[in-house]
Amino acid sequence: MQIVEEIVSLREIRRTWQSSKEDIAFVPTMGNLHQGHLELVKEAKKVASKVVVSIFVNPMQFGPDEDLDAYPRTLEQDKRSLEELGVDLLFMPKAEDIYSRGLEQQTFVEVPSLSYMICGASRPGHFRGVATIVCKLFNMVQPNHAFFGEKDFQQLQVIKAMVTDLSMNLTIHGVPTKRDDDGLALSSRNGYLNDEERNIAPVLYKQINVLADSILAGRRDFSVLIKEAKTNLANAGFKPDYIELRNAETLLQVGHEDKYLVILAAAFLGKTRLIDNLQLTI
Ligand code: PAF
Repeated sequence: MQIVEEIVSLREIRRTWQSSKEDIAFVPTMGNLHQGHLELVKEAKKVASKVVVSIFVNPMQFGPDEDLDAYPRTLEQDKRSLEELGVDLLFMPKAEDIYSRGLEQQTFVEVPSLSYMICGASRPGHFRGVATIVCKLFNMVQPNHAFFGEKDFQQLQVIKAMVTDLSMNLTIHGVPTKRDDDGLALSSRNGYLNDEERNIAPVLYKQINVLADSILAGRRDFSVLIKEAKTNLANAGFKPDYIELRNAETLLQVGHEDKYLVILAAAFLGKTRLIDNLQLTI
């Protein structure tokens, strides 16, 4: 596995691949890789002859009171895992090269509407930071395919919209969420949970499933069901941020005609904010 930090070195390798007509699949990450990330890499390997992974903890997508400095960094372990999977190139740019004119001056990409709702309402500016870094990384890596986890369902929709709106020439692949045996979605932030919180954490996905089962059984009093789910989460020890039922393609509020839906939820356990979602067809 080649490891590069400099953008020029990445472009150099990219040029040689271009001349040998390689297909490039790209998995952008912020590191602290878990089985969910490794699943993205495995999927990437299926569609392309070369796989590029990036590790970059992107300051632009963290709010002022968020966990940028505390974000877990496990570089040596990450390198070993990627090497074992046969990744061709690990790109680890430095923040000063990515944001060379400073974050204040940085040109940004913002996908309207989608970026302001749900998680975007709780984390203002977050999706601007995500769209901007993903656009920049796409410009550097120039992949034919890119892979994102469905756990960050809204992020995936924002990126798909950006790719469509900016006529980018690549295919975006969403990969189903990897879970622990008790249902907890794998996430780098799970590492923040203490033992007691870790025992409670699977209740988030359980409550999403309870809500989905009620809807699939024919209930349409969505606001009552959501209120019940929030109460159950609070009783279990969470501080719910949101539970939303949306059209899974547009993320707009559900209308009578909608068949393909998604339940999206975020809740705090102590200081840790967990998110999860479930798609359903009615
Ligand atoms: O999902 C993530 O890890 C990040 O939001 C991403 C897509 C790597 C952009 O920094």
